[in-house]
Amino acid sequence: MARVLNLLMLLLTAGTVFAARNKQSRPAEKDFEQESSDQCPEPYGYFADVEQCDKYYECKDGQITEKLCPDGMVFNDFSTQDEKCDLPFNIDCTTRPKLQTPQPSQNCPRKHGYFAHEEANVCDKFYYCTDGKFNLIVCPDGLVYNEKVGICSWPDEAKKKGCSSRDVFQFDCPKVNESVGLTHPRYPDPEDCQYFYVCIDGVTPRRNGCKLGQAFDERTSKCDWARKIPECADWYKDRLTDEQLDALENPPTPRPRPTGPINRRKPARKPVVHEDD
Ligand SMILES: *[C@@H]1O[C@H](CO)[C@@H](O)[C@H](O)[C@H]1NC(C)=O
Repeated sequence: MARVLNLLMLLLTAGTVFAARNKQSRPAEKDFEQESSDQCPEPYGYFADVEQCDKYYECKDGQITEKLCPDGMVFNDFSTQDEKCDLPFNIDCTTRPKLQTPQPSQNCPRKHGYFAHEEANVCDKFYYCTDGKFNLIVCPDGLVYNEKVGICSWPDEAKKKGCSSRDVFQFDCPKVNESVGLTHPRYPDPEDCQYFYVCIDGVTPRRNGCKLGQAFDERTSKCDWARKIPECADWYKDRLTDEQLDALENPPTPRPRPTGPINRRKPARKPVVHEDD
């Protein structure tokens, strides 16, 4: 009797071992692809879901926990050591394009991120949302919201529908031959002395501005004090007094820098590069 029982035990054990072997012998990669939702590819780390960009798994001692990034953010899968969700701009979600159901609020289609204005023809405004609360951001003059990178760009770079250079500027670059085109010729904005257009390769207009008090001088293709340019001499009359213009043209000479410790304050981020020449 004992012998029969022993044999039975042996058979059972062998069966178990065989089953375990069988499981182990499956290729690891296949395991990950097919069973990542209920099995850790490694005992420790953070692993992207194979289908959903904002879903990931935490593995601790082989124990798996499913997790979700905040709405609007996606899992950053650059390292399995880091638990990190980011805005989607630098994360490649092409192979795992699914996302959680959006939780819209106010003007935010999702809780976090940068979003185009709801009106397609509004090109230079966009929303920055955190936790469902929005800030309306206005691009600097001449720029439009670029949906691909979440910042303001030239219209020809942003390629936003309804927001091409032509739509935004109502300015056509005059036809020039190739050699002139290569110089990126500049033309005054017919509506505004302070602004001018740079025609990239002679074809694509970008609107750029001179600083306050200055105007674009067609003869030199540069910015200069408006009062020195005959066609624009009175341009600031309604906005600035002669004294204010004097002050702009002759700023008080800055005092020599103190030789004490250097002020290490971070410089404020400049929103736009205006021509200073
Ligand atoms: C291009 O146009 C400019 C100005 O109209 C002219 O001076 C130049 O000779 C032209 N160049 C060529 C290669 O046609």
